Amino acid sequence: MMQHSSVNILAIESSCDDTAAAVLCDGKIRANVVAGQEVHRLYGGVIPELAGRAHQSNILPVVQQALFKADVKAEELSAIAFTRGPGLMGSLLVGAGFAKGLSIALDKPLIGIDHLQAHVSAVFIEHEHIPRPMLCLLVSGGHTQLVMVDGQNRMNLIGTTLDDAAGEALDKAAKLLGLPYPGGPHIDRLAKEGNEKAFSFSSARLPDYQFSFSGMKTSLLYFLRAQPAGFIERNLPDICASFQEQVVQYLLQVTGKAIRNLKPASIALSGGVSANSRLRKAFGEMAQEHDIPAFIPSFEYCTDNAAMIAMAAYQAYQQGSFSELDVMPYARQPNVPA
Ligand code: KG4
Ligand code: ZN
Repeated sequence: MMQHSSVNILAIESSCDDTAAAVLCDGKIRANVVAGQEVHRLYGGVIPELAGRAHQSNILPVVQQALFKADVKAEELSAIAFTRGPGLMGSLLVGAGFAKGLSIALDKPLIGIDHLQAHVSAVFIEHEHIPRPMLCLLVSGGHTQLVMVDGQNRMNLIGTTLDDAAGEALDKAAKLLGLPYPGGPHIDRLAKEGNEKAFSFSSARLPDYQFSFSGMKTSLLYFLRAQPAGFIERNLPDICASFQEQVVQYLLQVTGKAIRNLKPASIALSGGVSANSRLRKAFGEMAQEHDIPAFIPSFEYCTDNAAMIAMAAYQAYQQGSFSELDVMPYARQPNVPA
């Protein structure tokens, strides 16, 4: 009788300030472990040097915990996957070095994965059959992209931000309002008690499917400067609701344009900012308006995680697409304007 041999993939993610490991067995996520780094809160932003050091001390326990939770022994792994980039070089090098070491020690193939493509692959963790082409709005702290995915899982970048990312805009706005880092979740929480029509902020209209968030942030800065002392404290929920609404409407306006012109068969939302409650709701409503199915991964697969790296690696594994041992991480995604 033929023995069924399963595909077990260990994936490591260390692109920014979360050290994560996941184990995927035959397409299903069996363990998904994330260790955050509290140290950056003190500084109101990620400090690259500290992130690299924290990855170095977290990576072994995180990987061991993922294997333990999945009940998979290192020898039973079929491949080792890791995030190649984009991200902080000092952080990426920790995950890459660890993955290469394991790959050599276990004599198992290595798979380097693009972090942004993995954010899109996160959509497939919970849904195997999604109508293609699928248009994915990827919104994270570092990136804002519109990506079209075809039936062979090929990804085509159709739009990106020329400056700040959506999450970055929310985090910078939160900083101006005196909220802790990362500010996105705080804005989300406070906005629930505010009036989104209280104030308005300007946003740039760009050709094609490009985004720009720096003007919106500057518009908030000038608005706040012109107000009397104590204004922020008295109007915090209204400011948060109005700024968040501007970000959400802007994202949907560009996505809506892409839906009308490119006519995808489904749409999806991914990346850390897709945790935003207003964006999730408005995205669903937009899908209904266009009569198109919409997919949004669970929260644990939206923010930085290694399960999405494992899913992207599983697709690469099935296509026989592996990396050489001398594969290098990259800070910026190749062929994308900086
Ligand atoms: O994908 P992610 O975890 O990391 C990157 O690859 O960047 O995204 C982090 C971003 C941060 O900007 C954070 O403020 C934002 O996601 N975020 C949110 C919410 N939860 C996380 N933004 C708005 N509302 C939320 N509930
Ligand atoms: Zn990310």
